[in-house]
Amino acid sequence: MKFEESKVLQHLPKQFFANLVAKVNAKAASGADVINLGQGNPDQPTPEFIVKAMQEATANPADHKYSLFRGMPRLKQAAADFYKREYGVDLDPEKEVAILGGSKIGLVELPFALLNPGDTMLLPDPGYPDYLSGVALAQVKLELMSLSADKQYLPDYQQLDPKVVEQAKLMYLNYPNNPTGAVATPEFYEKTVQFAKEHHIGVVQDFAYGAIGFDGKRPVSFLQTPGAKEVGIETYTLSKSYNMAGWRVGFAVGNEDMIEAINLIQDHLFVSLFPAIQDAAVAALDSDQSSVKSLVALYQKRRDDFYAAARKIGWEPYPSGGAFYAWMPVPKGYTSEEFADLLLDKAAVAVAPGTGFGKSGEGYVRVGLLIDEPKFTEACERIGKLGLF
Ligand SMILES: Cc1ncc(COP(=O)(O)O)c(C=O)c1O
Repeated sequence: MKFEESKVLQHLPKQFFANLVAKVNAKAASGADVINLGQGNPDQPTPEFIVKAMQEATANPADHKYSLFRGMPRLKQAAADFYKREYGVDLDPEKEVAILGGSKIGLVELPFALLNPGDTMLLPDPGYPDYLSGVALAQVKLELMSLSADKQYLPDYQQLDPKVVEQAKLMYLNYPNNPTGAVATPEFYEKTVQFAKEHHIGVVQDFAYGAIGFDGKRPVSFLQTPGAKEVGIETYTLSKSYNMAGWRVGFAVGNEDMIEAINLIQDHLFVSLFPAIQDAAVAALDSDQSSVKSLVALYQKRRDDFYAAARKIGWEPYPSGGAFYAWMPVPKGYTSEEFADLLLDKAAVAVAPGTGFGKSGEGYVRVGLLIDEPKFTEACERIGKLGLF
């Protein structure tokens, strides 16, 4: 028998980065010593105290049972305590926290949980490509908010088409930003709350890189903004802050109705997470956060090392305030994809073309700060030899 995928699956977006991985693998298979700056996968191990907490929890028979559908109360409490301690935000752990199997799950299921087919949602361009999966699965209409360097990669709500604004029901933001490293200001979030209230648009702020801010500046949480909980939620993940990308654990916090919608869809899709993973997440969130401080110092050193090496060859970065990426301009005469292909082909350096994150990513490539020196210097020296800057 032959089976066809459903129409919804047939309309899922192509995975842009699968193509990049294939190109990088082909180059490496040809014998080239590829320096891979194209990925976004944290390279450091999970802190030992979290691994230990997981090992102990795995040996506990109580953790072998089904979890409560909506997650363990102690993890929801730990998430609420974390937001209170780190950001001064008060949350009701039962009504304003939803446990997620990684924040990607929440971001993909949210349009399905909150919108009807044909409704309009706003996404940032450039932006994290997996948002598009949620758009396709929920069969909603997508409108892009074009972001640019001259506006610090923050959307200008005044520039949006009023007809689109009138129709929009949901909007995603992501600061610190993937791919640009841009950060949001409290004033921008105040404008966002005002805009959302005025036009009745739900806000989802993706805080995946919330812990990673540079130059002593801590990224602000959207929920610190007065009125934020009335209009939206923030998604948080343990993937980046604690190098737990493979563990699949995160949470959403904020608006009670939006949290209930996430919990309701998840009641039908999952039985929450393996309880031992939830216990390990409690250990991470309840910790003194010194592992996070060391990690941020490491990323800042890498950013500084990479910027210094790039500037030496005349390649001036867009100044990043957080996340673990450098957003680098493409020299005249190339598209971002042509430039990425050239670097792989002639310098055996892999970077992610900006257009993989949307049309407005044209003119840039994204460099992942996920390897140590001396690799950054070597990558820049190889690129410098091409004489493009
Ligand atoms: C901007 C952004 N949001 C969300 C995620 C998803 O993270 P996770 O599903 O591991 O929580 C990522 C992962 O790379 C990301 O870059």
